[in-house]
Amino acid sequence: MSALNKIARTMVSHRRGILAADESIGTMSARLESVGVAPTEENRRVYRELIVTTPRLAESVSGVILADETFHQQLDDGRSFPEYLSDIGILAGIKVDTGAKPLAGASGEKITEGLDGLRERIADYVRRGATFAKWRAVITIGDGLPSDRAVRANVHALARYAGLCQEGGLVPIVEPEVLMDGDHSLARCRQVTTETLEELFEELDLLQVQLDGIVLKPNMVVPGSGSGEQVTVADVAEATVETLRETVPPAVPGIAFLSGGQDPEVATEHLGAMQGLDPLPWELTYSFGRALVGPALEAWRGQEQNRDAAQSALSARAVANAAAR
Ligand code: 13P
Repeated sequence: MSALNKIARTMVSHRRGILAADESIGTMSARLESVGVAPTEENRRVYRELIVTTPRLAESVSGVILADETFHQQLDDGRSFPEYLSDIGILAGIKVDTGAKPLAGASGEKITEGLDGLRERIADYVRRGATFAKWRAVITIGDGLPSDRAVRANVHALARYAGLCQEGGLVPIVEPEVLMDGDHSLARCRQVTTETLEELFEELDLLQVQLDGIVLKPNMVVPGSGSGEQVTVADVAEATVETLRETVPPAVPGIAFLSGGQDPEVATEHLGAMQGLDPLPWELTYSFGRALVGPALEAWRGQEQNRDAAQSALSARAVANAAAR
């Protein structure tokens, strides 16, 4: 088993999942402000410390994805976040993309940037304790969207990122997110997700990315958030697993879903329903952001006296998702 394969398997096995705590400074600041907390560097640090010091987190979380700012910050006891995570048996990951920007020639669509200097940045993150990385591409469904050029440009960047990570010794989380925003149907989400994943695996093959050393992080197949379409948990689970069966080679060790704005409890129900659809060639787990930490942030609201309640809220979501597996 290669070193990359071993890390990838650790990330997705034993009923554990991955916690995405890598919101950009802008996004994290907005989330803090939404609960009445001033968006300072120190408050972002305090909040992230609350998250990672949640008791027994390592029983349901295999890895935490950090933002660059957090990666270089310290806990109150002086340990860096990657050092602390390693001490409690959780892998430290790093978000290495620099965000989605408007794609030239493709109105309303985005391309994720961050390839310049990536080889050197990866080497530095590895020295400081990272074992895996994340890059998120966003695909928008709309009138005539996505365009072929947006899908092609994004899967190309994902494949180049993945190749650089593997060369430098990091397992890449490969995240092509088909957004839930819009009034499209579940069938349309399925079609776009299928096309995106087909193109992604062609590009990963072209760039010789080792499939047993990645973790795929896709969206679940759901109707657009503005569609009003009523679907059952079983509908989503079946559509998602069928889409993945048609597109994801069995060499991929694990698939860790993003939550994408789904209600936290519904996202957990979807994950649970998929596990019953045997036989699955890969591990199916979670790499949620909002669906794990959203309730904790709401409970905390920047008040020290709410610390235990916030950690209990995170713990409840993490345990429920591990149980759903
Ligand atoms: P959500 O689960 O909130 O969609 O976030 C996951 C993630 O890491 C997005 O890049």
